[in-house]
Amino acid sequence: MAAFQPSLECDNISNIHSEQTDSDLIQKTDERYRETLPNLPKGKGWITEHLVQYQGFWLTPNAALKILMWVQDHFKPRPTDIFLASFPKSGTTWLKALIFATVNRTRYGFADHPLLTTGPHDCFPFLDAHLQEKDRSRFDLDRFPSPRLLSIHIPYILLPNSMTDHQSCRFVYICRDPKDVLVSKWLFLNKLRPKDLPPISLEEAFELFCQGISHYGPFWDHVLGYWEASLETPEKILFLKYEDLKKEPLVVVKRLGDFLGYPFSLEEESKGVVEEIVKLCSFENLSTLEVNKVSEQKFSKDTIIDNRHFFRKGKVGDWKSYLTTEMVERLDEITYEKLLGSGLVFGS
Ligand code: A3P
Repeated sequence: MAAFQPSLECDNISNIHSEQTDSDLIQKTDERYRETLPNLPKGKGWITEHLVQYQGFWLTPNAALKILMWVQDHFKPRPTDIFLASFPKSGTTWLKALIFATVNRTRYGFADHPLLTTGPHDCFPFLDAHLQEKDRSRFDLDRFPSPRLLSIHIPYILLPNSMTDHQSCRFVYICRDPKDVLVSKWLFLNKLRPKDLPPISLEEAFELFCQGISHYGPFWDHVLGYWEASLETPEKILFLKYEDLKKEPLVVVKRLGDFLGYPFSLEEESKGVVEEIVKLCSFENLSTLEVNKVSEQKFSKDTIIDNRHFFRKGKVGDWKSYLTTEMVERLDEITYEKLLGSGLVFGS
């Protein structure tokens, strides 16, 4: 499915490459990738045979590593870009819908809103899609109108300076209790695991997760990277927790509007616009829409995911139905030790 484009107009951007130049640049990155890959440590993969460790983080060798290198080598941010960053299974889909609805709220009415017929991942694409879409006319970052809404799982310290130094481009980071992330991730990835590979048991997934061996893991390093950066530059990075969003969605959405430069006016508040956005993007609403039940989402050459898999339960604390007491104690202990002194805590 093509990415949803909010408007046909496009900015006059200086970084539009010709197709030829673009493919030359990508070829260079391909060379760097081919030279680097054989020398990287390997760990067991959750949906691929293995993950590779690159600059401290575990990535899928065919998709995530290649894309990361492309971003490091070539991506040109705009000052107006809005990035949603997350560790997978932390609430990315929900935040995509909320940010899209907040930023575009004067454009669309709630009765015929694009989110009713287009999935959050198409309204707010992953930056990766740029590299993966063969038909570039369907997804050309350079032609996206500003502000571009782009999503990433890339750890903060692996981002190029052009993204972290840039004074104006903004990041919203969503994190979640690692126990819920683990359970959500295990159930999700077992659905995507190729049929010729045996399913991964919860015990095995747990061990891998604790060792940090999971997509974009270690979880704690990922979260801390954005947490520390958000403390240094709060005007650039808004750090959110899934649990807070569940508890006080109206408060968090208003903070989101302020941070993104789209504050809600008193008139909008009195008309219930914030409530409408929260309702539109709620699990109960999005998960029952036809588009989120039937359509597929193409994430990479080999990974096509049914949209419905992004909506499972949407609850805080579902780990209680899956993890043993020993697992909970061990995971909580790792979390405590890793986050000690950082000021960041997760409720148990
Ligand atoms: P569960 O598996 O615990 O239900 P991501 O979008 O980062 O892949 O995260 C997926 C998790 O977010 C899943 O958690 C999913 O159910 C939940 N989720 C998706 N949409 C949501 C929404 N609108 N509100 C709350 N949770 C949502």
